[in-house]
Amino acid sequence: MMIGSPKEVAEGEKRVAMTPDSALQLQKLGFDCVIESGAGADAGFTDAAYEKANVTVVKTAAALWKAADVVAKVRGVDAKEKKHLRAGQTVISFFWPAQNPDLMETFKAANTNAIAMDMVPRISRAQKMDALSSMANIAGYRAVIESGNQFGRFFTGQITAAGKVPPAKVLVIGAGVAGLAAIGTATSLGAIVRAFDVRPEVAEQIESMGAEFLMLEFDEDGGGEGGYAKPASPEFIEKEMALFREQAPQIDIVITTALIPGRPAPKLWPAEMVSLMKPGSVVVDLAAEQGGNCDLTVRDEVIKTDNGVTVVGYTDFPSRMAAQSSTLYATNIRHMMDDLTPEKDGQININMDDDVIRGATVVHKGAVTFPPPAPKVQAIGKADSAPKPVELTAEEKKAQELAAQRKAGRQQVGLLIIGGLFMLLIGNYAPASFMQHLIVFALACFVGFQVIWNVSHALHTPLMAVTNAISGIIILGALLQIGSSNQIVMILASISVLIATINIVGGFMVTRRMLAMFQKS
Ligand code: NAI
Repeated sequence: MMIGSPKEVAEGEKRVAMTPDSALQLQKLGFDCVIESGAGADAGFTDAAYEKANVTVVKTAAALWKAADVVAKVRGVDAKEKKHLRAGQTVISFFWPAQNPDLMETFKAANTNAIAMDMVPRISRAQKMDALSSMANIAGYRAVIESGNQFGRFFTGQITAAGKVPPAKVLVIGAGVAGLAAIGTATSLGAIVRAFDVRPEVAEQIESMGAEFLMLEFDEDGGGEGGYAKPASPEFIEKEMALFREQAPQIDIVITTALIPGRPAPKLWPAEMVSLMKPGSVVVDLAAEQGGNCDLTVRDEVIKTDNGVTVVGYTDFPSRMAAQSSTLYATNIRHMMDDLTPEKDGQININMDDDVIRGATVVHKGAVTFPPPAPKVQAIGKADSAPKPVELTAEEKKAQELAAQRKAGRQQVGLLIIGGLFMLLIGNYAPASFMQHLIVFALACFVGFQVIWNVSHALHTPLMAVTNAISGIIILGALLQIGSSNQIVMILASISVLIATINIVGGFMVTRRMLAMFQKS
């Protein structure tokens, strides 16, 4: 089969769905690749680079759509492109099926399959195809860079001969993919970063990135289905507003990313908050496409308010970093093709029993298959939405613990009796000196096991140091025996040296790797 990408026709769109690198990978799956001349130019990929990667370059969009059995795109199918659709063709792109029912009908009428990259479910297995996350990650990064461009000061604090510069204070609202990327970028630039999200489970992630999680004393979990948030109650929003009102005068840069899928963006940074901000402050509203989190956002524009605050409402952040976003998006597409081509024979198989493919397929064999059923697999980060065990009363818990202790006790007595009988049996036949050694050995095993079994995971590294020391003693003992005239003793001593050496070397290697995790390069 042939897979191809035309030049994007949406105004200002610089991304491309196939890069020379992704084309090489697609060829490994058995596909031939084709590209429209100039499709990658705005993202920095020349026709010559595609030709070098064995991609056929065709002159016109019509020729591309005619040649390709699978068309990979970025921005859906434009009115001008609809006439190119043909029966049996498969189109892969962002489609936003809920907002574009007419487009779905077009695919249906043309008997075309449509796979929406924006419908890939957020489950662990599908992360490699999660183009929304790839783009949100870039948007979060670029939002910080763009805010720096508008902001008249450093991010990091400095003490210079000319005076002291305080660090910029950045507030990130919504710590999803874009929000976390923004937090990472702003902290690495040296700003003081605060963040808020309705899902309390992200607090740990925020703090691990060096930012402060703004706590709201309110008993409501904003976590919803599929790793996304659910709408917050009016009381919660009221409390959230009070929190932001407190923050607004202190903050220099606000990056808003709050979103609940399928809904207009919540208005979390109204005009009142902007009026509380200092002149020179910046608001970057990533939710501009869904109406914006800020009242004053003008889609695709940068405006300056009367009190000197800049509000950025761009909706094309990924396209502003076209080389990076095309590379990630093309890789997401390549992974999707990988799943669609299980035999690696260049023939796609839209397997509707596969959760990920089912979720993303919005039109299949001339039928609209959107919306998909809920995925059977749990969404990322939603482990705690699993059914919780029934809460036990204190007495029930005590009774359970007692029963478990009694059971363990019975097992130990049983094992001791079996061990004792075993010793008696061996003692009947073996010489007394052997029995002495055997009993010491059995006791050492028992004590060692009891000690190690009860060590908590946090102490495994110091424990490794102890086992290294023990292994050292074993090697010493074995070296003393290795010259023995008895061949069996010599073989056993050699095996002891080998095993203890593996233990010591392995211990050092693991310890080195663990220490490296805490070292800054
Ligand atoms: P996401 O769903 O991963 O994150 C949104 C976050 O907002 C969630 O963590 C959610 O809990 C939080 N949230 C919802 N209601 C909230 C509230 N009332 N208060 C605080 N937090 C709240 O979404 P993702 O992928 O990070 O995208 C974020 C935004 O960025 C979306 O609006 C998306 O459309 C936009 N985006 C914009 C681009 C651009 O060029 N402007 C490009 C890519 C994404």
